[in-house]
Amino acid sequence: MTMPTPLCPWRMQVHHIHQETPDVWTLSLICHDYYPYRAGQYALVSIGHQKETLRAYTLSSTPGVSEYITLTVRRIENGSGSNWLTQQVKRGDYLWLSDAQGAFTCDTLASNKLLLLAAGCGITPVMSMRRWLAAHRPDVDVQVIYSVRSPQDVIFADEWQNYPVTLVAESQASAGFMAGRLTQAMLSAVPDLTERTLFCCGPAPYMEWVENTAREMGVLQVFKEPFFTPASPAAGEGVMLTKLSAAKTFFAAHGDSLLQALESNQVAVNAACREGVCGCCKTQVLAGEYSVSSTLTLTEQEIAEGYVLACSCQPLSDLVVA
Ligand code: FES
Repeated sequence: MTMPTPLCPWRMQVHHIHQETPDVWTLSLICHDYYPYRAGQYALVSIGHQKETLRAYTLSSTPGVSEYITLTVRRIENGSGSNWLTQQVKRGDYLWLSDAQGAFTCDTLASNKLLLLAAGCGITPVMSMRRWLAAHRPDVDVQVIYSVRSPQDVIFADEWQNYPVTLVAESQASAGFMAGRLTQAMLSAVPDLTERTLFCCGPAPYMEWVENTAREMGVLQVFKEPFFTPASPAAGEGVMLTKLSAAKTFFAAHGDSLLQALESNQVAVNAACREGVCGCCKTQVLAGEYSVSSTLTLTEQEIAEGYVLACSCQPLSDLVVA
């Protein structure tokens, strides 16, 4: 039985589970209270019987449009959270979720031309936003390019028939798919590319390529959302983090913030805004290289002592944290 935690106070019941692809399932949840969230946001989920194990998953549903609150989860080999959610949780079970979090949303955007790019499971916030746009901003010109490994890996395959989408399959491309990976030529073919606001979600190298290429091509506004994938040494790459106070060493994927790296490895961190504003996630880095995008609540002395806002800290090498 899953556990409530201070970070996950929202109890939701699994209404039904739908298999999207060979390794992706959507869990449809009922919340008996009003659960506020915005299209494109994510929530932390308390995992299994292991107290204080949290994983972050996109809320793939759309507020005010979807009948249920949904989590769409890819099963990752050796991933305890995704295996539990996709293989053990069943209809009628209860899950505990955090408040909705994240700023990867389009509901306050003035732009009326958007380009939504996604790879693999990165489609989950994109579909949430696509439905929201259709319901609330039908005037917006939305282009979507969705990259998958093969045609059988298209998530929300039926629903995509309602919206214009360019599908790109790395292998076994059949009718309706472009073959290969996203290319500059595919981006060039998007009408009015440079006038569009670009949203992109997928693995870190994919997003890095998209951002660099799109900016070179003249796109001015690019918003990115990384996957929340629990990393492991088996992933073959990543940075190693040693948390002295927890006597713990673990791995995190390149591109993860320090906060994501800690949370995806079962290290609880106080985090509220997740945007470098509230100061909740202050953490001291004792060794290693990193970059920061916000030091808003930190004093100069704290910065000199290695304190960072974990949500706004990008590890650049192996790190030791207090
Ligand atoms: S969570 Fe608010 S500053 Fe990091």
